[in-house]
Amino acid sequence: MKILLLGSGGREHALAWKIAQSPRVERLFIAPGNGGTSAAGTNVNIKATDFTTLREFALRESIEMIVVGPEDPLVQGIYDIFANDPATRHIAVIGPTAAGARLEGSKEFAKEFMQRHHIPTARYLSVTADTLSDGLAFLDTLQAPYVLKADGLCAGKGVLILPTLAEAKHELQEMLGGMFGQASATVVIEEFLSGIECSVFVLTDGTHYKVLPVAKDYKRIGEGDTGLNTGGMGSITPVPFADTLFMDKVRSRIIEPTVNGLKQEGILYKGFIFLGLINVGGEPMVIEYNVRMGDPETESVMLRIQSDLVELLEGVRDENLDTKTLTEDPRTAACVMLVSGGYPEAYERGKRIDGLGEAAASGDSILFHAGTICVDGETLTAGGRVIAVSSYGDTKEEALAKSYRTAEKIQFENQYCRRDIGFDL
Ligand code: AMP
Ligand code: GLY
Repeated sequence: MKILLLGSGGREHALAWKIAQSPRVERLFIAPGNGGTSAAGTNVNIKATDFTTLREFALRESIEMIVVGPEDPLVQGIYDIFANDPATRHIAVIGPTAAGARLEGSKEFAKEFMQRHHIPTARYLSVTADTLSDGLAFLDTLQAPYVLKADGLCAGKGVLILPTLAEAKHELQEMLGGMFGQASATVVIEEFLSGIECSVFVLTDGTHYKVLPVAKDYKRIGEGDTGLNTGGMGSITPVPFADTLFMDKVRSRIIEPTVNGLKQEGILYKGFIFLGLINVGGEPMVIEYNVRMGDPETESVMLRIQSDLVELLEGVRDENLDTKTLTEDPRTAACVMLVSGGYPEAYERGKRIDGLGEAAASGDSILFHAGTICVDGETLTAGGRVIAVSSYGDTKEEALAKSYRTAEKIQFENQYCRRDIGFDL
């Protein structure tokens, strides 16, 4: 099969690495890819949201399946565009329709969906400028801290957690006044939930589903989960508290109502569902839905899928995922992200990365490029998150020790990584 994978981050390198291992793959293209994905397939310089050029490319190369890494193309309707065009409808797009992608594209839609299907989540009120006074009154009924979420996509920056009522009221008005443009014209005000988070990934063909290895990511820049939010500084799988009892609750209270709810509402969804969950005293609750895999969770989760991922994706396409098996590697996998100094605020790009060959040759770890570019045979930094260093271990300590050992072999100016990934497990 000829596959086109969309995206350019560490998640896409990890997906490319896994897809390329499948004997079912004849050619793998990555659009646009990065400095590392070219080791797994052929990079094609097309943006993941440039549907016109992607269509031409897919037809020219006889692409049979498009695997969508990031959310933007899904929210913008790539599934529907390919499915509604007689020339491209034979190409399987792995990902939801635009209607399904609203689970991530609109926090208000996601909350209403959960309410309709009795899926456990934080109490909330959705407000606009016209209903500001209701929002202020709702904030009065909550306890600190206060959670405000822009309804629309904000590249992971649309959630504010505020320590005082006064700040929450002020920021609510700022958000509704256009802090995130149109994305915060509607704001979801939420009750704060206290607990430990984990990421559960579900692959569904619209009827059947498989649960992928559960992971935990580390979003804050600083050790001990302090400082600014980032795209993710590392990840670990499995998650010890996501045990059989907890996962039974996740299946019956969250996954099944989600998959069945989408189907009941006539929303076609054939792809990954990412459940951002919080464990509140043993009870799983949904913090958010995403309609794609997580980054950097994918960089550890892919290590623990023993089955052929392409066979599973064919099961999604053919709506017979129930006939496929998903086997998990029993080992732990850990990912440590090497980032550019200054990230998630301003940072410099274009720094030469040394030691990649030696790091790969040590055999301790698998390197997934996140923000890199190859120029004249040199690999340069091209983003805030630069390289994900992923390793197996019989314990999390062993997996992490390998990743940190490998990380030391890789050098670029102002490199930083969190040294405490997994500290809370
Ligand atoms: P989101 O973009 O919805 O994942 O929110 C970003 C982060 O904010 C989450 O990963 C949580 O750590 C935190 N968060 C969001 N909603 C809540 C909530 N209701 N209670 C506690 N923390 C939350
Ligand atoms: N790691 C969180 C995300 O991908 O949104």
